[in-house]
Amino acid sequence: MANQVGEVTMPRWVPLLGGVLGSTCCGLLLYAFSVFIRPLRAQFGWSASEVALAYAICCLVFGLMTFPAGRLSDKYGPRKVVLVGSIILAVGFFLVSTISTKWELYLWYGIVAAFGGGMIYLPPIATAPKWWPDRRALATGFAVVGLGLGSFIMGPLATKLIEVFGGALPVFKYVGIAMGIMGIAAAMCLSVPPAGWKPAGWSPPAPKAGAPKVGRDFTYEEAKGTSQFWMLYIAYFCGSFAGLMVIGHLAFHGTMEMTKVLEAAKGVAAGSLPKDSADIKQVAMNASFAVSSLAAFNALVRVLIGAIVDKVGTRVCFLATFSVQTLILLLLYPLGGTYVFLLLMAAIIGWNYGAMFTLFPATCLQYFGPTAQGSNYGLLFTAWGLAGFAGPYAAGYLLDIYKVYLIPFIVAAVVCAIGVVILFITKPPERKA
Ligand code: 2OP
Repeated sequence: MANQVGEVTMPRWVPLLGGVLGSTCCGLLLYAFSVFIRPLRAQFGWSASEVALAYAICCLVFGLMTFPAGRLSDKYGPRKVVLVGSIILAVGFFLVSTISTKWELYLWYGIVAAFGGGMIYLPPIATAPKWWPDRRALATGFAVVGLGLGSFIMGPLATKLIEVFGGALPVFKYVGIAMGIMGIAAAMCLSVPPAGWKPAGWSPPAPKAGAPKVGRDFTYEEAKGTSQFWMLYIAYFCGSFAGLMVIGHLAFHGTMEMTKVLEAAKGVAAGSLPKDSADIKQVAMNASFAVSSLAAFNALVRVLIGAIVDKVGTRVCFLATFSVQTLILLLLYPLGGTYVFLLLMAAIIGWNYGAMFTLFPATCLQYFGPTAQGSNYGLLFTAWGLAGFAGPYAAGYLLDIYKVYLIPFIVAAVVCAIGVVILFITKPPERKA
């Protein structure tokens, strides 16, 4: 598209493509981990919490890396950061295929791959809205949509490959190579428009009556000095903690509960159906479809809610998604053994969870402006990293104690409800003159 500054020749959908590709790499890394739990435990004899710890470390490192990645992207531009991140991610993921101890899993998956993934995630989120001042939330949605797409592909793909190879490890080799190629392509698509750039024929709309006073953007120092920033931080932690307690465990929960229902229907003793029987394989496949259903809605919502937010604002969307999430988390244990309900609940959880990744950056932009978005949102997103460490690990830990997911999912619902209250009382800060 032509533009008012003149020197820009790149069509502005190209950075969106970069965002889709980069975020898909992150989705491959993060959201299908639950399908690896059973084969890794079967191959190495690890406990649920030992495997969950790998995922928890991965989320922590990924989330904490986004802060320096955002700062570096504000300073050096997104391309270099994403390029380096892609190489690190691909190498780390590939090397998971060589592990023989849990420490190696923690190193290659939890630390190295996550380090690279965190470097890829943030720069497109800070960059895409700069090209789309007229549709900022929508552009943000494109920059994060691949988190859902990647896991949508990875759930069934990894399940199939695990079956073909007879184990989980070779999957990491082939997917690692694919990640490297996609990440490098993403980096090539990213650049920042010149200062003051606007799409041709577009001018910022006049503020609506009653809207907060228009003023200059907050600096990073100013943004992190506001109470609103930290309210968002806590809400982000709550929503992510609740979501991640479920996402990393959904396949295992579904498999366990659907197996119980199947055994009861057949009138056989609990645990008596052989793991390689057609029935149990079908249950595992059904559970992986639930993971995909979660992933599909996790992807879809990011773009759709972006389009909605550009019209109605973030507050209504926040309150609706967090409240519904609380309710569904309470139903997930009692209804998780019935395939149709599991699919449906997974879809709703994916929708509400995925919405956060458009709503929080869009709110951060709305509250503090685009100038320091890389740094501001990079810091805000570390809440996800902390939650990502605590949530899946807490679920694995509680599972080892209680053997089923009743207590973990109640804990998730309570934490999510705290998020509803916080979002309800948070209002935008006054802009500086
Ligand atoms: C997201 O889904 C990485 O959890 C983050 O966008």
